[in-house]
Amino acid sequence: MAIRKVGVVGLGLMGSGIAQVCAQAGLPTLAREVDQALVDKGLGRIKKFLDDGVAKGKVEAAVRDTTLKNLTGTTKVEDLADCDLVIEAIVENLDAKHALFASLDKVSKPDTIYASNTSSLSVTEMAAGTQRPGRFVGLHFFNPVPLMKLVEVVSTIVTEPAVLTEVKSFAAAIGKTPVSTGDTTGFVVNRLLVPYLLDAIRMLEGGVATREDIDNAMKLGCGYPMGPLTLLDFVGLDTTYYIANIMFDEFKEPNFAPPPLLKRMVLAGHHGRKSGRGFYDYSQKS
Ligand SMILES: NC(=O)c1ccc[n+]([C@@H]2O[C@H](COP(=O)([O-])OP(=O)(O)OC[C@H]3O[C@@H](n4cnc5c(N)ncnc54)[C@H](O)[C@@H]3O)[C@@H](O)[C@H]2O)c1
Repeated sequence: MAIRKVGVVGLGLMGSGIAQVCAQAGLPTLAREVDQALVDKGLGRIKKFLDDGVAKGKVEAAVRDTTLKNLTGTTKVEDLADCDLVIEAIVENLDAKHALFASLDKVSKPDTIYASNTSSLSVTEMAAGTQRPGRFVGLHFFNPVPLMKLVEVVSTIVTEPAVLTEVKSFAAAIGKTPVSTGDTTGFVVNRLLVPYLLDAIRMLEGGVATREDIDNAMKLGCGYPMGPLTLLDFVGLDTTYYIANIMFDEFKEPNFAPPPLLKRMVLAGHHGRKSGRGFYDYSQKS
């Protein structure tokens, strides 16, 4: 594999998980955040995840130590110059992503591959804004990254076939199962998952069943690990609302339209687990 050094930009929820799995696979990994406090916070999150794993007997202490040794933080884009692959996991905002790739393009070596972890933006549009559209893919990881096996590998009509092959073997090398998809909003998983989640809200809104019965029906009837309303609370209602709007904008199909109840809950600040309240109440739980 030609990918020997990885850069990760953004050490938030997803970026810290991505940096961790790359470093854990033995790849020197350089992670960039906007300031030192956020670098420290991101690296601290990774250390805590690994420390907890060691305490529970799920991660060997030696693996934790090697992983942390492979990880470096920086605030400078220039430091990513010699990375073979740079994975972007910053805020879901096209202008911010364009600006980042423009600054990276000035410093990266010509054969560096760029990947975006975007959930809903156009990979083609991001790629077209760079000097290397053929060496640009989407790498859509799932949360929590260290535990979820899937990565959607998104190619555009201009992605070089050799780049796609390279990125898929990288995904396998970091312990993930790659699934190839074209650059369509929602890729495979969200294209199927989002209408399902929205329909569960519509069902609750229409008084068809209670939240518990909707969740239990899908758990016990379909063997899903959790029901749709519990899952929505995990994903975040604000995030789901945002993605639904982008998908509706793209496809103009009613099944992607966010139901009024979702909008009202977001406006009321009921964003799910992270805000202490979503379809369920988490205010008493730690
Ligand atoms: N949260 C999810 O479940 C999920 C799943 C798959 C994909 N994604 C995608 O991953 C990306 C990141 O999402 P997240 O949930 O980790 O967000 P987050 O808000 O937790 O983290 C984003 C981080 O990027 C940093 N950042 C912003 N601009 C930066 C820049 N120019 N350089 C370096 N760092 C910068 C921020 O300081 C923040 O720490 C988004 O594109 C999102 O759509 C999210």
